[in-house]
Amino acid sequence: MSKPENSIRFILDDRIISLDFTDGGDIRPDTSLLHYLRITGHKSVKEGCGEGDCGACTVVIAKIKDAKLTYQAINSCLVFLPMIHGCQVITTENLSYMQDGKLQLHPVQQALVDHHGSQCGYCTPGIVMSLFALWKNHSHITPSLVKERLAGNLCRCTGYQPIIDAIIDQSGKARHDLLNDSAEKIADELDAIHKESGDIHISTKDILYIKPASLRNALILREKHPDAVVISGASDIAVAVNKHKQHIDAYLDISSLNELKSIRSNAGHLKLGSCVSIEDTGEAVKDDFPALFEMITVFGSHQIRNLATAGGNIASASPIGDLLPVLMAYECEVVLQNRERKRILPLEQFISGYHSTLMREDELITALALPYAGKNVIIRSYKVSKRKDVDISTVSAAFLLSIDKNEVIENVKLFFGGMAATTVRAEEAEKYLTEKKWTEELAVQASRIIRDEFKPISDARSSDENRKIIAGNLLIRFWEDTAKTS
Ligand SMILES: Cc1cc2nc3c(=O)[nH]c(=O)nc-3n(C[C@H](O)[C@H](O)[C@H](O)COP(=O)(O)OP(=O)(O)OC[C@H]3O[C@@H](n4cnc5c(N)ncnc54)[C@H](O)[C@@H]3O)c2cc1C
Ligand code: FES
Ligand code: FES
Repeated sequence: MSKPENSIRFILDDRIISLDFTDGGDIRPDTSLLHYLRITGHKSVKEGCGEGDCGACTVVIAKIKDAKLTYQAINSCLVFLPMIHGCQVITTENLSYMQDGKLQLHPVQQALVDHHGSQCGYCTPGIVMSLFALWKNHSHITPSLVKERLAGNLCRCTGYQPIIDAIIDQSGKARHDLLNDSAEKIADELDAIHKESGDIHISTKDILYIKPASLRNALILREKHPDAVVISGASDIAVAVNKHKQHIDAYLDISSLNELKSIRSNAGHLKLGSCVSIEDTGEAVKDDFPALFEMITVFGSHQIRNLATAGGNIASASPIGDLLPVLMAYECEVVLQNRERKRILPLEQFISGYHSTLMREDELITALALPYAGKNVIIRSYKVSKRKDVDISTVSAAFLLSIDKNEVIENVKLFFGGMAATTVRAEEAEKYLTEKKWTEELAVQASRIIRDEFKPISDARSSDENRKIIAGNLLIRFWEDTAKTS
């Protein structure tokens, strides 16, 4: 390993910023990008909730992918500063400019003005940045796409219609803005930062923050610092640190490791690197793993999906981790690696209890392997929550079913989230269903067994009784869905 750097470099306001943390002071490695932007004059970036729910802090990050800049909207309240090493950060302050003494608004900003898309203005910069990323990435903009991209931006006063109308009005129009002019220069600068970068090793009086430049180095450092908290998208960890003021002594940041971002199809499997974002996972699984794609469409918001990873979701081993039931239904395997070897475990076995897994302290999750399901296998996923978007599951479920030509059940697996301390299978109901004809009556009988099979808790989201009813009813919904498609 070459000598590690103790500072990070990124582009803001068209300049390369080099940030050295060793001096201490107000800026620490666990400082949020939101806080940094506000104290450096980017006052348009607002704090609403500080935990990824409101979108007031939305900024856009430009990164190099396939030698081109890609633009992603993210929640700056959930990003630790070293995570933006090698990126360009864009806020509304970077969209407009002065010409002949007159303020020239970005086309997205001008459209919002023209359509009266702002009132008190608190949410507006976040909305502008979400729409800016949409405008950069899509020339054809549909109402459903806008709604999906704005699900993570709360506006309490304007109402969404004028905002939607504003961006729809831009659909199909020529795309040119100030950022186009500098894109080539920015891409070259970011490329140079990446080429010159080795491991980053920031050590302050009370925090160690390590950001390795390769998987090999990450595994060496994982062994050397087994207590360091691994961060991938940081969408779980940053809430604990920035919102709940938890202090973490040591971080191992694997968020930029390209080796963990690959998506490959081989030997009957789709292999997803553990640091592939949930958004990119959705694109990759759309055709062959539709139930996983469905679950991803109701996972957090677009900003969250750009940060969060499937690796982080399974490592958290939350009883309400939305990807767990559906990944288990697809018989997902977890690839674990330490410095010397790889091992592969079925996800169902990997999750060992409430927020606990069989990962050893010198290992990282490096990939998820999804076998392509056979033609006669039906897999569906369901999420029940108080709100459709950006909400935690009350109950989630994923079901696998295969039936023979006489409609007799050969194989059935019923996975539930939110019903116990971990993702659980309704084994009694599975036994009852096996080798019987798949009919509505059978589904209704099995739904009664499901209701009695679990002892869920009552909490702010639901009573235990309600959870039992929901879980049972989801099987009846599954029957209806399979009846529609058969
Ligand atoms: C506003 C908001 C909305 C959300 N909505 C949803 C939702 O709809 N559904 C849902 O299930 N979750 C949701 N979450 C929770 C969170 O986004 C997910 O759990 C996410 O998948 C975590 O991934 P991450 O990469 O951000 O994890 P991180 O925060 O980086 O890490 C989470 C845990 O996994 C460990 N870890 C991460 N990657 C690895 C690895 N490769 N190897 C070993 N350990 C690793 C970390 O040490 C940590 O313990 C939401 C969170 C927020 C803030
Ligand atoms: S401040 Fe609410 S999402 Fe960041
Ligand atoms: S304009 Fe006031 S919250 Fe959206």
